[in-house]
Amino acid sequence: MESGMTRAKESPKAAKADATFAAPPKVQVAAPDLRGAELTARARLEQLFDTGTFTEIDAAVHHRAKNFGMADKNIPGDGVVCGFGEIEGRTVYAYSQDRTVLGGSLGEAHGAKIAKITELAGKAGCPVVGINDSGGARIQEGVEALASYGEIFRRNVRFSGVIPQISLLMGPCAGGAVYSPALTDFVVMVDKKSYMFVTGPKVVRAVTSEDVDTETLGGGRVHAETSGVAHFLVKSEVEGLELARQILSYLPQNNCDTAPTRGGEDPVTRRCEELTRIVPAQSNRPYDVADVVKSVMDQGSFLEVHARWAQNVRVGLARLGGHPVGIIANNPGMLAGVLDIDASRKAARFIRFCNAFGLPIVSFVDVPGFLPGKEQEHHGIIDHGAKLAFAYCEATVPKLAVILRKSYGGAYIVMSSKHVGGDYNLAWPSAEIAVMGAAGAVEILYGKELKGASDPKQRGAELSAEYNTNFANPSIAAARGFLDAVVEPADTRIMLYRGLRAMIGKREELPYKKNGNIPT
Ligand code: HXC
Repeated sequence: MESGMTRAKESPKAAKADATFAAPPKVQVAAPDLRGAELTARARLEQLFDTGTFTEIDAAVHHRAKNFGMADKNIPGDGVVCGFGEIEGRTVYAYSQDRTVLGGSLGEAHGAKIAKITELAGKAGCPVVGINDSGGARIQEGVEALASYGEIFRRNVRFSGVIPQISLLMGPCAGGAVYSPALTDFVVMVDKKSYMFVTGPKVVRAVTSEDVDTETLGGGRVHAETSGVAHFLVKSEVEGLELARQILSYLPQNNCDTAPTRGGEDPVTRRCEELTRIVPAQSNRPYDVADVVKSVMDQGSFLEVHARWAQNVRVGLARLGGHPVGIIANNPGMLAGVLDIDASRKAARFIRFCNAFGLPIVSFVDVPGFLPGKEQEHHGIIDHGAKLAFAYCEATVPKLAVILRKSYGGAYIVMSSKHVGGDYNLAWPSAEIAVMGAAGAVEILYGKELKGASDPKQRGAELSAEYNTNFANPSIAAARGFLDAVVEPADTRIMLYRGLRAMIGKREELPYKKNGNIPT
């Protein structure tokens, strides 16, 4: 978590945002240390919002179900607490499901409350945070429960890309309680406490006779590391609630607003001398690109998204000279930084998020290409890789990129090159831009010659050296204007900041369309 993240009760930025309204009186309550505790639905909301700012709506809503003994059940609020409050002085809407009431299950009235709060958030242009702790559609309410989920899904989708939507998973969640989060921007799970599955273990056992425990079926690690459904895995409920506040600190209130700037302590004239030590000169040597990102961006500002999944690309939110930006970075520290199916999906989705909310995209490129082979081909690398191309081509926010070392083939094209609309493209002197690496190219171009050579190994090395002389540098791309400048590694932060300032006012319209058709 970003250091120095505290509850900003009186941020000057926030005061400006709500300048037309006098701040409502804040109810002062003592703040016990709740780290590690399991909180009630209401306590979770109190923890999420600035102290004393939560205002509940629909507390009096009651269910109308009659079957399965429901007529006699009095459930105030129908098992979900809804309302709005402030986070760092900006209005945010939220709901919180109560697992102690019929397993947090969603009946007609419960669902109507969530649909209403989402709709209000959308109309007001404010983020919505959903705290999910629910066994899904309330079985006793049948189709009315299902209908209510449909109403929620429709609002999730209608306001996708309009307001930020964050889902916190705080307990065992099933059915619609996982589909609605999947339609939102970020899913946060609590390790060993929250679970996500379309159907829970009991239903799995009844339907397929398969015995599987909750952790194996849909635990936090499964979704944060294997499926990619969860963007963040946290250790406690309180950490998850603080993370939601932190995520929102990078984001505008809605797609017409601008993201709040903050910081400025880290000089934009700072040279990053350490970069030449972080990135080995030899282009096939691994390193963790997160260290490059942390060096270049404002100190302590990198909030990695999907940190445990598809680590061959790292993505996340950061600040550069105080401006929030989205980061897409090939990571040679995992699978040599190759683009495979999961990495392509992960990067494409995050680019689309950034574009929706006007966050400029900064790409760090060091990529050997797309992962070849039967396994990837059979699972659709063509479509998933195309998703990444689609996302970069479609994005109209400022797109900045720096090629650190290699940038080969299709991966060169899609990774924010000029040809897919890159606005400010830099390269280090060590950049290699080619259709493929020397070994593969020599094999294809000189296969016959090598077979007939008296010393094929020696001849192969000579031809590789010749190939590298031609391509293992950025000069051809720079001469064509495909790169705007070749910069020393230490100047990367300075140059990217200059580019960001120069592009921050970018306006670009796509042709009118109902929607594009992104590959599956
Ligand atoms: C009504 C439910 C319920 C539900 C749980 N409860 N889920 N009541 N409708 N969907 C009630 C239980 O009856 C129980 O009530 C209490 O909540 C706690 O449930 P337990 O099973 O004892 O808790 P636990 O062992 O922690 O297991 C939690 C669980 C499990 C894994 C979520 O309850 C479960 O598997 N529930 C069903 C999940 C599911 O398959 N839902 C899909 C619904 S379909 P008492 O009174 O005994 O305390 C759906 C449609 C939308 O959502 C799909 C859109 C694509």
